[in-house]
Amino acid sequence: MKDNIVLHGLSFRPYLPEGQIAERVTELGQHISRDYQGKSPLFLAVLNGAFMFAADLIRACEIDCSIAFIRLASYDGLNSSGRVKTVIGLQEDIKGRDVIIIEDIVDTGQTMSHFIPQLEEMGPASVAIASLLVKTEALECDVDIRYTGFEIPTKFVIGYGLDYDGLGRNFPEIYQLAD
Ligand code: IMP
Repeated sequence: MKDNIVLHGLSFRPYLPEGQIAERVTELGQHISRDYQGKSPLFLAVLNGAFMFAADLIRACEIDCSIAFIRLASYDGLNSSGRVKTVIGLQEDIKGRDVIIIEDIVDTGQTMSHFIPQLEEMGPASVAIASLLVKTEALECDVDIRYTGFEIPTKFVIGYGLDYDGLGRNFPEIYQLAD
């Protein structure tokens, strides 16, 4: 893991190493495989942030499953903008399907609390959320996150798919904004 890294002039310090993320993602995959035994869930990975987590999570799943990639939220800089766009790119018919949303991070919960009702209208058999990170203290909405990788404090993080204004997604580990 690198020492502090600087993106757009802001300093980030090492937070979650690659090995710890891999271990936790494997556990989540096993957990999902047990819960969905005999079913064939459809994962909906929320781009861009969840691409790395999604790739690792479905490789850790030992059941039949499909994956589709969608886009949702508008998010600028360091704070949730609160403006939520409608879902883009969902071509699959989710009626009667067991859907598992793959998110990189739940912060205020606004994104998920707007998206879940949109999904429910499409008649899925079930909907669950798998989020790698959850900023528990920042949650403003009542969102049921079935699978959580790590509960983290309300500090901006980058790496493993997460960005700060377009940079930082490529790091295999996660860094936290330094004070
Ligand atoms: P929420 O609607 O406040 O829950 O925000 C969710 C979205 O905000 C995530 O899908 C991310 O795109 C973005 N986000 C929130 N916190 C962070 C962070 O610490 N780093 C990078 N993106 C974040």
